Amino acid sequence: MATIREVAALAGVSVATVSRLINRNGYVNKETEFKINKAIEELNYQPSSIARGLAGKRMDVVALVLPDINNPFFPELARAVEDICLSRGYTLILCNSDNDREKELNYIKSLSRNSVSGFIFATDSLSQEDLQELRQSGTPIVVLDRSGNADNCSIIRADSRKGAMMAVQHLLDKGRRKIAHIYGPQSIVTARERLEGYEQIAQQYDWYSPSLLIPGNFRLESGIEAVELLLERHPDVDGIFAGNDMMAIGALKGLIRRGIRVPEQIALCGFDGIGMTRMTEPELTTIAQPIAEMGKMAAEILIGKIESNGGENRFYELDVHLIERSST
Ligand code: RIB
Repeated sequence: MATIREVAALAGVSVATVSRLINRNGYVNKETEFKINKAIEELNYQPSSIARGLAGKRMDVVALVLPDINNPFFPELARAVEDICLSRGYTLILCNSDNDREKELNYIKSLSRNSVSGFIFATDSLSQEDLQELRQSGTPIVVLDRSGNADNCSIIRADSRKGAMMAVQHLLDKGRRKIAHIYGPQSIVTARERLEGYEQIAQQYDWYSPSLLIPGNFRLESGIEAVELLLERHPDVDGIFAGNDMMAIGALKGLIRRGIRVPEQIALCGFDGIGMTRMTEPELTTIAQPIAEMGKMAAEILIGKIESNGGENRFYELDVHLIERSST
């Protein structure tokens, strides 16, 4: 692929002169314009949208800000976003923020708000003011999955509360009579809603106690640790609902290490529906989010906003569904 430098060399002008012509942001005399266009044609040079963007024009680029790319949920989400972006002629930039507001603000600044066409945030650490400021810069945004402080923008997420209730009801339907919940970080809205959904069902039963709530951090290790704490508190527990699949996989490892048979002694259900739930033995029952559909919708809605310069903001809460496997 020819570069702008090769075009400049062939035309006998500077790179800056070629850039001025391509981006139409400065004077170039007719003779020089002819020489440059001839060189572009000979070399079949394709100015990249990144190059246009660096000259201050909007790039056909979308930025997706994810909180934790080590969690397979987010790459599955990003894949769906990217497929739509590429099919509509947009390049996708992936940003991993570790749920850190400062990191997210730095991404926004370093992507020079005037060059990226739009942002999709799958994080909830930006404040309403941060999002408002970004909107005022004219950059469309869509919030995906974790809708924390977002308002006045389109939001696409799954129904975490209802999904948690489905998980507990499924364990009850399987004859479990004492069900614990390993919950995710309560600073994250999806984790809070799953805990609420668990309690909405569990609190109806006389076996319920707040000590059946075990903290986790949405990562595998916390699932292993949670099992240790849970079995100290309640050796007679016979069902576990984990607030995401990574913690459920950790819990399964913890149970197997202690020689506990799943599901015979303790049945286990996760949440997300990531591909890894099919790799465990037993395979994990989970409440599956419509991951690909959410990613696709977010990309389509954002591109619609970019190309129509705005558009109404809507809140989409998609259904989740139970995938029953041998861990229950
Ligand atoms: O597994 C990561 C979790 O964080 C998912 O459940 C997703 O909903 C996100 O909020």
